[in-house]
Amino acid sequence: MNLIFLGAPGAGKGTQAEIVCEKLGIPAISTGNMLREAVKQGTPAGLAAKEYMDRGDLVPDEAVIGILKERIAQDDAKNGFILDGFPRTVAQAEALEQMGVVIDRVVEIRVPDEKIIKRMSGRRVCEGCGSSYHIQYNPPAEEGKCDKCGGNLVQRVDDKPETVLSRLQTYREKTEPLKDYYCKKHKLISVEGQEEIADTAKLTMAAVTARI
Ligand code: AP5
Repeated sequence: MNLIFLGAPGAGKGTQAEIVCEKLGIPAISTGNMLREAVKQGTPAGLAAKEYMDRGDLVPDEAVIGILKERIAQDDAKNGFILDGFPRTVAQAEALEQMGVVIDRVVEIRVPDEKIIKRMSGRRVCEGCGSSYHIQYNPPAEEGKCDKCGGNLVQRVDDKPETVLSRLQTYREKTEPLKDYYCKKHKLISVEGQEEIADTAKLTMAAVTARI
């Protein structure tokens, strides 16, 4: 099954992708995590991406498409994958088609902007494995430490309030048109993001398996 999780920054795509990928036994592929790793490693691709990410802009299509193409060619993605944060423009969606990728379902997670801002300000991510937590809604067992790998939990540079507003605007302008794109292809199902992560997970699993 090839799935796309669509939604505004902070809507919970990464959180849901981690839950659903375990249930389905397919990898969750986050272009945001891959880009952050490239920045951390100081690769040429990472250095080029950093300035866009820090100010809340999208990284140019060609760069992200190249990274994604390499990732989905890996063995663990043969039986399917969940794309979290890709495509983000119509050009990226068209590139997926040109690669011969057939998307089975696009799940949009909808959350109002005021909740998004609350979520982003409390988000902490693991420096080691990229897992995402929230100081109030999804705290780790030990404060400041990742449950999965023991890595340090830090705040993302792009979670500053002014950058969050710019990311939301970029989402509306460049990514939201994808809803119409996939709706016309009868692939889109929308889910209302809930207060509890587990409640959203139930709705997301139902959307993944529903007939449309
Ligand atoms: P990326 O990392 O993809 O960021 P994003 O799409 O802005 O999404 P987030 O990771 O911020 O949020 P999420 O929806 O995954 O929410 P999460 O589950 O963490 O991209 C970062 C940057 O990289 C972009 O700005 C861009 O520059 C670049 N980039 C990446 N992909 C690109 C592409 N394809 N093209 C071009 N550029 C690209 O949840 C958020 C918080 O809320 C967490 O703390 C979580 O614990 C909490 N939470 C989750 N669900 C709930 C719930 N139900 N109730 C309460 N709290 C919840």
